[in-house]
Amino acid sequence: MKISIIGCGYVGAVTGVCFADMGHEVVLVDVDPAKIQAIATGQTPIYEPGLEDLIRKNRDRISATQDLRAAIESTDITFVAVGTPSQDDGAIDLSYILTACEEIGQALRNKEMFHTVIIKSTVFPGTTKEKACPVLERASGKMAGKDFGIGSNPEFLREGSAVRDCLSPDRVVIGADDSGTADILRDLYAPLGAMVLVTPVTTAEMIKYTSNAVLAAKVSLANELGNLCKRLGVDSREVFTVVGMDSRVSPAFFRTGIGFGGSCFPKDVRALVAGARVHGEDLKILRAVLEVNEEQPKKVLSLL
Ligand SMILES: NC(=O)c1ccc[n+]([C@@H]2O[C@H](COP(=O)([O-])OP(=O)(O)OC[C@H]3O[C@@H](n4cnc5c(N)ncnc54)[C@H](O)[C@@H]3O)[C@@H](O)[C@H]2O)c1
Repeated sequence: MKISIIGCGYVGAVTGVCFADMGHEVVLVDVDPAKIQAIATGQTPIYEPGLEDLIRKNRDRISATQDLRAAIESTDITFVAVGTPSQDDGAIDLSYILTACEEIGQALRNKEMFHTVIIKSTVFPGTTKEKACPVLERASGKMAGKDFGIGSNPEFLREGSAVRDCLSPDRVVIGADDSGTADILRDLYAPLGAMVLVTPVTTAEMIKYTSNAVLAAKVSLANELGNLCKRLGVDSREVFTVVGMDSRVSPAFFRTGIGFGGSCFPKDVRALVAGARVHGEDLKILRAVLEVNEEQPKKVLSLL
């Protein structure tokens, strides 16, 4: 299959290169000329173990360009993997997504062949259908589900083990409201032999946020209980190791530390809390998860 990826950051670059390794032809698109230049010369645009080797190995199936329109014209399916940073109120900034959709829509206006657009960026549930889709339809003059396909395919890779996570995922989540889009994505991922789950588009978006919310909550819970262990003179490592042996709990993400950070957990939990508020839901536990996480580095410093 011929695939274009909009955004060559952690998610876009790794996903695109892994698709090429699975045998697909991939066009990587970014507004940043340095990233395009890097890929074009066989280098990785971001630091991620194993990525440069895969770029070199699959060089004949990977190209890179700033020309989004040409990329849409020459491919069958496009993944949008641009950033969705936090705004001051915690809600995500959709400007990169909507700009990319506007440009994709304009490119689709004159394209005769059927094209599928998949939102891979992490977006609040409802965004693909209620925000991205109307922009694509207006800019293209076409109707989603009939003239072009639309779907969601959230990404679960972790920075540092992104290539391995991408090529050996625990599961692939496909958000599709029509069987044609679901089948295209199933075929695309078939070479991985991974478990593929097809859900409605908005459910797939919610799965991604729920996954990060559960992991972040586990970290904050471990930190809160670990702080109590410290006061009681109990070794928290022993507690969490033994509790983690319970198959309902699992040892992953279950230890004390300075809290969760990185580019996703804080942003995604804040976005979920902010988005839920708009829908009339106060996510009290997740607000506490964030509060514990903000205090934890100070607790560790005072211990030191
Ligand atoms: N980084 C992670 O570990 C991770 C994991 C899972 C999901 N996600 C989600 O995936 C999305 C992307 O994350 P990332 O870490 O790859 O972001 P990033 O900031 O590293 O990369 C985004 C890229 O998109 C490019 N871009 C922006 N607008 C563009 C446009 N109109 N056309 C072409 N390129 C454009 C930027 O130049 C940048 O290179 C976010 O929604 C994030 O929450 C990230």
